[in-house]
Amino acid sequence: MFENIIKLFKLKNYVEGHIKFLIKLKAFNKAKIYLAFLLGTLTLVFEGLGVSILVPLLSFIQVEGDIEKFKKSSLLCLYLYNSLDFLNIKLSTILLSSMAILFIVLRQILNYFNLILIQKITAEIHKKINLEMFSCLMKSSYRFMNAFNTGKFINATDIEPQMVAMTVKSYLTFYTNILTMLIYMTVLLLTSFIPTLLGVIFLSFIVFITGSTFAIRTKRISENLVGLRSEYRDLITERFLGWKTIKTFDTVNKETLRLLTVQQKIYENSVSITRISATAQLLFISISTIIILVVLNSLIANFSFDATKIVIFSVAFMRLTPTFKVFQYNITRLVELLPSYKFCEKIYENAEKLSNTDKGNISKLELNKEIEFKNVYFNYNEAQKNILVNLCFKVKVGKINAIVGPSGSGKSTIVSLISKILIADRGEIFFDNSEINQIGEKYLRKLIAYIPQDPFLFNDSILNNITYGSKKVSQKKIWDALTLVKMNKFIKSLPKKLDTNVGLLGQSLSGGQRQRLILARALLKNSEILILDEATSAVDTKTEDIIHKSLHTIIKKRKKITIILISHRVSSFMKTDYVIAIKNGKVQYEGNPKNYHRG
Ligand SMILES: Nc1ncnc2c1ncn2[C@@H]1O[C@H](COP(=O)(O)OP(=O)(O)OP(=O)(O)O)[C@@H](O)[C@H]1O
Ligand SMILES: [Mg+2]
Repeated sequence: MFENIIKLFKLKNYVEGHIKFLIKLKAFNKAKIYLAFLLGTLTLVFEGLGVSILVPLLSFIQVEGDIEKFKKSSLLCLYLYNSLDFLNIKLSTILLSSMAILFIVLRQILNYFNLILIQKITAEIHKKINLEMFSCLMKSSYRFMNAFNTGKFINATDIEPQMVAMTVKSYLTFYTNILTMLIYMTVLLLTSFIPTLLGVIFLSFIVFITGSTFAIRTKRISENLVGLRSEYRDLITERFLGWKTIKTFDTVNKETLRLLTVQQKIYENSVSITRISATAQLLFISISTIIILVVLNSLIANFSFDATKIVIFSVAFMRLTPTFKVFQYNITRLVELLPSYKFCEKIYENAEKLSNTDKGNISKLELNKEIEFKNVYFNYNEAQKNILVNLCFKVKVGKINAIVGPSGSGKSTIVSLISKILIADRGEIFFDNSEINQIGEKYLRKLIAYIPQDPFLFNDSILNNITYGSKKVSQKKIWDALTLVKMNKFIKSLPKKLDTNVGLLGQSLSGGQRQRLILARALLKNSEILILDEATSAVDTKTEDIIHKSLHTIIKKRKKITIILISHRVSSFMKTDYVIAIKNGKVQYEGNPKNYHRG
């Protein structure tokens, strides 16, 4: 039992960690937090005054205006009389009633501003953490993102940050709770000292015993829940993306069952948390009511308690009991919310640790000759071996270069290394005389237009999709690019033309049309290096031929442009200027395509 109380105090480290995390992310405005504490304090001070004034008011009515009796009725009445006397104000029922009204109205006004302020603080923290988490993840390395999943991503950038923000709200409630208790205790102590002391000791004892035991259990369950929430989101997003596979393999029931298993666990855990909190309330309210009534009864019997004292005592206790209850609920709630910060912090720190720090300072390059791989090694993870081994080859500037090789030989890995999506474990990659790591990342992204093997269209208009990442582009350039990829006629035939929405992942287009839009996007970027990883695999050979002819025209027009394409079709790479053949992560052949074909 006491062990749990000690554990409860250890939560302090958790709270400190949470605040440090918020400070690190610069998630809140200190001045606003102080203001919220100040408003909270003032609200309660006025509440205390509002309730306190009831004591003299009731006493004054009871003693029927007899000042001497009034002064003797309680400490509070004495203090009030002295203060008013000092100010030369005459005591009256109207004065006391007006004061009560004034205090209560002021309390409500302050409460109004405080509620809005707290909501603003929480929403701001939520927004800030969301954005920080998002940008930190996006800046992280391929290795980190590769090991990540969609569910975790949504949780880390939305759901859990909300919990992290709510924790701050919890702190503020916690503070007002303690203050409420202190204020009412003061009122009660001034009304009747000993009974209050006894009552408070009893209630605190119950709160700590029940609160700590239940809080520790809640902590364990909440930590489980954070994991389960992420697992569930991961499952549903993946199933949404793979809905066609689920339908064609007729596995809807199986998948539903799989979701149900996780949902069941979430259900059990969340009910458990509520059960714990409800049990705590049940025990607390029952025990405290019994104790209060017993104490009150014995006090009335043994100390001559007058009617005013009984009323005040009851009013304050009626207000105190829910405060104690909320206080206890708050401990549980805080424990429930805190694991979320741990989840975010761990992800944030790992993402930060694994982000690629840009050491490059070159921001202008005159590429004349070649891109050279010098003894490059690469593995996706430690368990893997020999994805790329001691790789050496050159890509010719101003030419169409083809990287060919069997599936899984490492072609996509190579082009990801050129575009610095991946970073080599060992070895160097030179752009003429500049090593890739010396080239500023921003400049490198401008230098290269890269179509990965799994390109992406946003759920947006054709226009926004093809001009994505490009600065202002003229209508002429847009239509020129669309003509090069043979999409101009199709788009002109659409009722909304360039404003047509392509749907989620571009699903309202055919596979080949999607590829051609992505090619147009890369062309519009107007970069010096164009990398196409199977960029025409879904179009018919005739269209592919036309596109390749267009690429040749581009090369002729802009001499310094370098094209690197990966293609399985012999007909495609036979027409290129230079071929690099890869097998099992090693170069098998490098040179003129004609000789390669013969060899
Ligand atoms: N994200 C990844 N994590 C771990 N291993 C990977 C990852 N991507 C690729 N690999 C492994 O690296 C090797 C090379 O893959 P890569 O994608 O470069 O091949 P490829 O030549 O482009 O193949 P394909 O012609 O099928 O596209 C493969 O054995 C693959 O299993
Ligand atoms: Mg590939």
